[in-house]
Amino acid sequence: MSESPNAQLYLRQLLGGRDFAQSNPFATQMENYVYLIGDRVAQKAVVIDCAYAPGEIADLALEDGMELVGAVITHYHADHAGGQLADQQISGIVDLLSLHDIPVHVQQNELSWLKERTGIDESAVTTHLDGETLLVGDIPLTLIHTPGHTEGSQCILIDGQLFTGDTLFLNGCGRTDLPGGDPGELYETLTTRLRSIPDTVPIFPGHAYSPLPSASMGQVRRTNPVLLPLDRERWLARFS
Ligand SMILES: [Fe+2]
Repeated sequence: MSESPNAQLYLRQLLGGRDFAQSNPFATQMENYVYLIGDRVAQKAVVIDCAYAPGEIADLALEDGMELVGAVITHYHADHAGGQLADQQISGIVDLLSLHDIPVHVQQNELSWLKERTGIDESAVTTHLDGETLLVGDIPLTLIHTPGHTEGSQCILIDGQLFTGDTLFLNGCGRTDLPGGDPGELYETLTTRLRSIPDTVPIFPGHAYSPLPSASMGQVRRTNPVLLPLDRERWLARFS
């Protein structure tokens, strides 16, 4: 778990199998991060992605005195939102809604995927376009459409920190060979859609695939091979 230097920003980085779902070996194996983000003054928080043990995750926010007022899903995959993955049925956003009646925020292009894979009722979902902002207390969350890993993947910029789901890891990026994936779109996301993110912005990924829990965008640009300055043809030859 980590704490934000901004006193008003509530930020907890939770690792599956360590901070929740400790008795679930699949959660330990998958190394998913879940984030609780909110406003300490207003005592309101949202969860970014929610899988394996939604009740435990919500309880962690409640134990901190935070009211859970929404969920933001980076993309539809079962290890982030619940559903079937290989031979595993992963608890996720639908189970969270059975405990807490909160809106679920997804990128517009991800709605059909999320409905199909989780069975979520469309009435529980609020869809968003690129650049839209949510307010959690007084903390704005800016949603950035970053297709490639899935059609409606989104990154979330909060108080100068970027939560990237499976779009960008500290080392590497999400695969593009699953349904909805598109290597050409991921190239455009990494080279164009995320180009304006300053080097100083900390990156919080969707998986613990690196020893560090986060790193600055500048550090990631220097060390992550998927951000090498390659033209489209060479990038696709190497990474698609
Ligand atoms: Fe994924």
